[in-house]
Amino acid sequence: MIHVRTPRRLLAPFNLLASVVQRLHRGLLTSGAAIVLAGCATNAPQDTWKPKGPNAAKIDNLQKPVFAVAGIVGVIVFAAVLYSVVKFRDRGQPIPHQSHGNPALEITLTIIPALILTIVGVFTVRSVFDLAKTSDTEMIINVTGQQWWWEYDYPVQEQFGITQPIITSGQLVIPVGTKVLLRETSRDVIHSYWIPVLNGKRDAVPGRVQTNRIEADNPGIYAGQCTEFCGLSHANMRMEAIALSKDDFAKWVANQQTEYVAPADGTLAKEGEAVFLNQCVRCHQVNGLKRADGTPAIAAPDENVWSGAAPNLTHLMSRNTFAGAMFDLAKPECRKNVWESDSATFGGKYLTGVTKDCLNESALRAWLRNAPAVKPMYTNPEQLAATDGKYRGMPYLGLSESDIEKLVAYLLTRN
Ligand code: CUA
Repeated sequence: MIHVRTPRRLLAPFNLLASVVQRLHRGLLTSGAAIVLAGCATNAPQDTWKPKGPNAAKIDNLQKPVFAVAGIVGVIVFAAVLYSVVKFRDRGQPIPHQSHGNPALEITLTIIPALILTIVGVFTVRSVFDLAKTSDTEMIINVTGQQWWWEYDYPVQEQFGITQPIITSGQLVIPVGTKVLLRETSRDVIHSYWIPVLNGKRDAVPGRVQTNRIEADNPGIYAGQCTEFCGLSHANMRMEAIALSKDDFAKWVANQQTEYVAPADGTLAKEGEAVFLNQCVRCHQVNGLKRADGTPAIAAPDENVWSGAAPNLTHLMSRNTFAGAMFDLAKPECRKNVWESDSATFGGKYLTGVTKDCLNESALRAWLRNAPAVKPMYTNPEQLAATDGKYRGMPYLGLSESDIEKLVAYLLTRN
């Protein structure tokens, strides 16, 4: 036999490949371990295994047994494969006697899975129908997705004290123990509404209205996330459901319907109102706001924004997040005070809204100074040909620091 030494330079590509494979292996192991360990997180507000309302509980009651059955089947199959691989591996023994067919075994192994799937199927279909039910609805809220925030509009429902439509965004406010039907749609692309502890996800599709039941057992904040890729800031399109006791909900409704109170003359907030009328009212509505000549200031977001909408800021300080719930409107300690309070004190704290002492002013100023710099959006004038020059998101307005200061003072009066 002749041995030929392979020149080292010819081996180089193979060595490289081996090292890439080795690195890939290590990377997979590390990321795999990270994913597994992430399951141990205690602060996981979007945990589907901890339902906080009857609709999510229905899903949980289905997923737990199905997960168990699938797990047991998986373990049995894995064990049988491992046993066969070890026991019958090639040790140079002669090929065993070849046989074919065992009707009893084959019929049994067909019937068992079919039975398991039928049972799982019956319970699944029952849950799907239960979750699609609309006949027991007690309250209706329209939910509209757009790049990259959610709008909530409450039609008149006098039994809840809603005597004029309420429009808000970012945080959905609902009374506890009430069967709420969300009617979801979108103004631009497909989004998906998902608050995991209250129900499964439902797509918000332009030109269609899809329903989604939610109900919360206890007062609190329940976090969610848009779950359909919808462009640049998809990951920044969050939502929160705020469940309040029925009394607290009535107070929230009453506050949302209060008449506009203009800031007193001579205050910084009054100057801020003028800046708002100059700059912001093009897109953002503040109900009851009047121009200097006494005519109502009506926002026309359809002229500037591709989706045709911008958040209504009438009661901005009654919510504690802004810009599609991406930023906290309250400072970290104030946020913690609300988010981590117990059911009994939560409502009172939430209804206080964001006060001057609690305002996360640096985040609000950064947003007013240059919104696209802190949240990725399509607002570059040179790249808006596809949308007829309209923005998708809030543009850079070039406000002066003094205008920003006035605007912050004005927005603080919007509670
Ligand atoms: Cu909206 Cu993703």
